[in-house]
Amino acid sequence: MPIQHLLKTQAYINGEFISAKNHRTFPVINPANQQVICEVTCCGEEEAELAIKSAKQAQHEWKKYAAKERSKFLQKWFELIMQNQENLAYLLSMEQGKPLNESRGEIAYGASFIEWFAEEAKRAYGEIIPQDRSDHRLLVIKQPVGVVAAITPWNFPNVMITRKAAPALAAGCSIIIKPAPETPLSALALAELADQAGIPKGVFNVLPTALAEEVGSVLTRSADVRKLTFTGSTKVGKILMAQCADTVKKLSLELGGNAPSLIFNDADLEKTVDAVIASKFRNSGQTCICTNRIYVQSGIYRAFADKLKEKVRSFIVGDFQQQGVNIGPLINENAVQKIQRHIGDAVNKGAILALGGQRHALGSTFFEPTILENVSQDMLVCHEETFAPLAALIPFDTEEQAISMANDSEFGLAAYLYTQDFSRIWRVSEELETGLVGINEGIISNEVSPFGGIKQSGLGREGSRHGLEEFLEMKYLCMGV
Ligand code: SIN
Repeated sequence: MPIQHLLKTQAYINGEFISAKNHRTFPVINPANQQVICEVTCCGEEEAELAIKSAKQAQHEWKKYAAKERSKFLQKWFELIMQNQENLAYLLSMEQGKPLNESRGEIAYGASFIEWFAEEAKRAYGEIIPQDRSDHRLLVIKQPVGVVAAITPWNFPNVMITRKAAPALAAGCSIIIKPAPETPLSALALAELADQAGIPKGVFNVLPTALAEEVGSVLTRSADVRKLTFTGSTKVGKILMAQCADTVKKLSLELGGNAPSLIFNDADLEKTVDAVIASKFRNSGQTCICTNRIYVQSGIYRAFADKLKEKVRSFIVGDFQQQGVNIGPLINENAVQKIQRHIGDAVNKGAILALGGQRHALGSTFFEPTILENVSQDMLVCHEETFAPLAALIPFDTEEQAISMANDSEFGLAAYLYTQDFSRIWRVSEELETGLVGINEGIISNEVSPFGGIKQSGLGREGSRHGLEEFLEMKYLCMGV
């Protein structure tokens, strides 16, 4: 299918692509050169209300489909996405900036959630409870939550939608997506393919908008929306949580992270450097589970720092279409200013700039992959996620020290540890205050495992069989016989 068929600029509500009543549009900007790719309709209150009404009507019917029938729609959607992988990847890179290869990977990763939940749809088992009395029969059935609103970020414009929409639809919910204003095109392309897959009208809806507060407020305050699922900052997550309190919505929140990596003296140097690079520099460092603080034990510190520098120095920074590119642009000027602030703060407090540290010669939002050495716990980079290509190395001596610094954070999404010692693997994994732990592995997310954080990194899990439960309510039936 030509790419133009996937390039949609209107909202998708009740099975139709429509323009907002306010006639407003907003530009989608290519972050590599700041050029306008296209103008997209800017939904407001009216479209949000319409989407809720349509989603409510549609859900009434959708929930009655047999799980196997819902599964077939999802399977078809998955196939169409994979058939269009190349064009979807191109659109994604154009609006988000990541290298084309990473976008191809994201499309396949995103589709894998649809395939997985197409299968899981058939496994929303209830239970039969041994009766408490001989004249009782006790059962639990699982039912869809209802209409779901999803607010999704720009860093993974495809997968952040599919890992919410696929379990929602599998469970028998309908969904309204409000994509990030930076990356509405990937969301609308998914809508086009959902339409082609025959997903009934009103079941999947997309509201592109630059009026995030206006649309967000309608979605969170509506009593007809029974669940909110959000990926984004902890700050916005707290606001949404408060807005949902009035209607006591079910919530899934995937919020900020500040992932530590703990590298012990006995780690395999070569493999560890590669794993840390994969975790740190994926998506140019714009990933919630990116390692942000790299704690390195004193015996391996020098060798690790030198090897990391040798490899990162050879990175190619460039536009998504360039062959072999490792690092794309950051999403916008604010992102550049944040990495500059973290570097400035660290250097002022005594850190050593070992590599990079400047805006890249390509200009605009391109930034040099950067390594800071001798970072300490009092620096900003240890307390805020940088969301940019900055590797901060912090030396440590003992396991207790490393654990204590790793847990010194309000966030608790991901952590990584590198060691060959099995008892240490268990000890440290159990002590780390995070929802995810990578052990001698830097790329840990997939559709079959539960993804999510503790502390102020969020609530609930995405992916895996647990991801389906987030969209189901339990109903207990007590039968007198
Ligand atoms: C994220 O940035 O939160 C998602 C990363 C992933 O799914 O691996």
